[in-house]
Amino acid sequence: MAETSYFGIWKFVSDSLSPILLLSLSAFVGCDWTGKPKEEDRPVPAERVMEFAPLYATHCAGCHGPDGKNGPAPPHNDAIFLAIVPDEVLHRVVAEGRNGTPMPAFAKDKGGALTEAQIEVLAKGIRSSWQPANRLPDTQGSGLPSYWLADAKSGDKDAGRKAFARSCAECHGKDGKGTKEAGAVNDRAFLALASDQMLRRIIITGRPDFGMPNALKRDHPPLTSQEINDLVALLAYWRLGGDTNGK
Ligand code: HEC
Ligand code: HEC
Repeated sequence: MAETSYFGIWKFVSDSLSPILLLSLSAFVGCDWTGKPKEEDRPVPAERVMEFAPLYATHCAGCHGPDGKNGPAPPHNDAIFLAIVPDEVLHRVVAEGRNGTPMPAFAKDKGGALTEAQIEVLAKGIRSSWQPANRLPDTQGSGLPSYWLADAKSGDKDAGRKAFARSCAECHGKDGKGTKEAGAVNDRAFLALASDQMLRRIIITGRPDFGMPNALKRDHPPLTSQEINDLVALLAYWRLGGDTNGK
């Protein structure tokens, strides 16, 4: 008799109460027995996340790639980029974004989601995570070109055509229309979203993550700073629709 009622109760519990029990038990996961959440299980408020990896994964990796490369936006995980980019630029671009490009401003006073301290963690973390100790790639004795445009207007698009034929056409085609090696770089929709500074930077660093070599490693003399300006002037001309044959 006693046995029957014991199993009867157990059956009653398992048939009707156990889903409720399981639910209420699961509500205790992450709590101590008084029902308060454990300190370490409480979600960290977004403003208190101060580690580089989660900040980068949440706010940057979608465009710049999960490990700072292989994304649509220019890679940060790049030895030449880190050798030439000033600290101040890393910080300022993250805080203020780049007008007229997809790069958003992250500072709160510019409508972004990050505190000044978090922006500092990102700017420092990009360098400390990805700048190799043995930092300079082989420059064929030419030294590294400067990150900055010496003068945005100092480029000459016609001189740029010569540099393009020598350094770029094998992959991007004679008029920048693309080949099976690489896509078009005279595409106005692409160029409209890319600043001159980004074009300069891509010409210097290449896109090693996609197989585009840097300006120093091509199998001919490295591009000079002037030639890089000339190439930017040519791409800027294409951005405005020059040479597109009615396209
Ligand atoms: C919506 C896409 C997007 C997101 C998100 C984004 N970026 Fe960018 N970022 C870009 C693009 C595109 C550029 C190039 C802009 C240009 O044309 O100059 C850029 C440029 C930069 C540059 C300058 C690179 C150079 O070559 O001069 C830095 C530094 C940078 N981003 C850092 C960050 C950091 C750090 C985050 C996260 C907090 C971030 N970005 C999030 C799209 C993005
Ligand atoms: C060995 C082949 C090769 C050479 C040489 C080369 N590129 Fe590229 N380039 C690529 C590849 C691959 C990409 C990745 C995207 C694609 O497939 O178009 C690329 C991308 C680009 C982009 C877009 C970058 C981006 O982040 O979306 C620009 C701008 C560009 N190249 C300009 C140039 C210029 C200017 C030269 C000459 C100084 C040059 N490239 C030389 C292969 C090359």
